[in-house]
Amino acid sequence: MAPSFHNDDKVLMRGVEEMLASRRKLGLEGLAGDLSAATICVEQDRLQPAAEELLASTGFDVRSAFEDDRAFCIVLGLDGSADLILYARKEQDNPFRAFNTRPKSGHLPNTRLETFIFETPDLARYVHIQQLRGTQFHEAGVVETPGYFYIQTQPSRYTGAALGFIQWKGQKGAYETRGAKALDVRIEKPDAAHLRNIGALDHTATRVRAQDRDKAILEFMSLTNYDFQFAIYVNSLNSITSVARLAGAGYAQVFTSGVEPFTTVEASGPTERFILNYGTRVHHMAFVAEDIDETVAKLKADGMGFLSDLVGSPEEGLQQAFSDASPHTLLVNEYIRRYGDFDGFFTKSNVTALTRATDKQ
Ligand SMILES: [Fe+2]
Repeated sequence: MAPSFHNDDKVLMRGVEEMLASRRKLGLEGLAGDLSAATICVEQDRLQPAAEELLASTGFDVRSAFEDDRAFCIVLGLDGSADLILYARKEQDNPFRAFNTRPKSGHLPNTRLETFIFETPDLARYVHIQQLRGTQFHEAGVVETPGYFYIQTQPSRYTGAALGFIQWKGQKGAYETRGAKALDVRIEKPDAAHLRNIGALDHTATRVRAQDRDKAILEFMSLTNYDFQFAIYVNSLNSITSVARLAGAGYAQVFTSGVEPFTTVEASGPTERFILNYGTRVHHMAFVAEDIDETVAKLKADGMGFLSDLVGSPEEGLQQAFSDASPHTLLVNEYIRRYGDFDGFFTKSNVTALTRATDKQ
């Protein structure tokens, strides 16, 4: 039996136009900017291994480490990029757990890229407007620390991720919470030339159910100032890659879904199958990489596994590769290099090859 639901960009675009008009009318434009950080929760015994792995596979280095009553945190940073905040909860209470316990992810019940944190110039005004339109924030409300004001949504039912909004008081990057103590971590950044080729967090891609694609994108647009830009359909793999961007922002938000909902393991394609196995979650973090052939070759020589070969070419404007998923975070690293005036994220042939590669997961 054919599924009755089928994604259609004409339907999505009607929602996008309404959302943009609503955002303008409410005065939300200009109140949410580029990504400041993404938080990645891991199991306690994997915090240090996860940090070491990211240091050995990206250009990021440790910026700070601290603990408070609730968590151990290691902040990884790189100039010109959003930060990655690795952390492990001390408390049992985890509002994301229901999204994590799937057949291939249940052994890591706290592990997920949990929260995308965007900068705002005026958190009080942002929260006031969002509350008028019915947005439910985390019960803690606005939190004030020495360095910033912060609020976070509940996890989205469509993505299993929350969105956070941060207003820095002064210098960006002081993530310490009130009463936090320094955490003694001894992690060495490997001194390797190929790691200096790897740059900023370019985008992440979240896998969502076919029937939730429009809802996930519109929800994201309603909370940020990002706009839906375009989608690439790969019908043969039942997969759509949809992109949201913000003018002037370095970071893009990507959603991957089925064209049609899950039916059977055999017929549904790698995207919907991934969700069956791992739940809706961020599939990969993409980092820009100079000299990408050499960089990927060195990562492989270092022992890093890859789901895909390097696909694309300078002539096509784009080269990309997917690593194996991390055993500590469940996240894949994408390495991406653009050429000439190519400013997109995908060529159709690359997306097809990369999506097919994820079938191995
Ligand atoms: Fe990607």
